[in-house]
Amino acid sequence: MSSDGTRALNAEKPIDESRVIQARQMMPDEANPWGDVHGGVVMKMVDETAGSAAMRHARGRVATVAIDFMSFLHPVHIGDLVTVMASVNDVGRTSMEVGVRVETESLITGERHHTSSAYVVMVALDVQGNPVQVPSVCAETVEQRRRMAAAKIRRAQRKTREAALKESRRVDDTVGPTVYNERPAPLDAP
Ligand SMILES: CC(C)(COP(=O)(O)OP(=O)(O)OC[C@H]1O[C@@H](n2cnc3c(N)ncnc32)[C@H](O)[C@@H]1OP(=O)(O)O)[C@@H](O)C(=O)NCCC(=O)NCCS
Repeated sequence: MSSDGTRALNAEKPIDESRVIQARQMMPDEANPWGDVHGGVVMKMVDETAGSAAMRHARGRVATVAIDFMSFLHPVHIGDLVTVMASVNDVGRTSMEVGVRVETESLITGERHHTSSAYVVMVALDVQGNPVQVPSVCAETVEQRRRMAAAKIRRAQRKTREAALKESRRVDDTVGPTVYNERPAPLDAP
């Protein structure tokens, strides 16, 4: 780190420096008629917090390119305090996998639950919106090393899946579109 607090672009950054926490109480307009908070409300908080963590790591503009996985393990209710914690698990060349954990707390009883986990892939962008290289990241604790190893497995799986889907589309293109000759039954058919 230089005296003005800036860091060389190629310097490795600790995972802890990307860690972001957002907490907010759930309001009635965010829930269904039974008082359960919509999954999309939690997904938005996950996306926002993951974006902030990725920006902290990249120190620039980012975009969500994929939500690789998201679980909903326990309902969230109106009045609950939702806490979203995010940090970079691992980086590729221009992409970052951000791990996100969501917890809720009943502010009345103090009861807490782990309600969601998610892996969000963010890409660093330049001012024109093109992907740019991000600094490498270093895991400093056993837990961070475990998350980084798991992130590398998921990244390899994403690449294998993308390649397989691309290949299947190429095969579809050579076979041509499927033609359905069967006419639909008339509406008044018995
Ligand atoms: C982000 C964006 C510029 C990337 O463009 P692109 O042509 O896919 O760029 P690249 O092929 O160079 O991929 C960039 C990185 O994203 C990763 N990536 C691309 N598609 C991906 C996917 N579906 N899942 C996971 N990672 C993906 C690539 O592996 C690459 O990572 P790496 O550099 O670490 O190896 C483009 O996809 C985009 O603009 N998407 C829309 C983003 C957005 O608007 N998000 C908000 C949705 S409302």
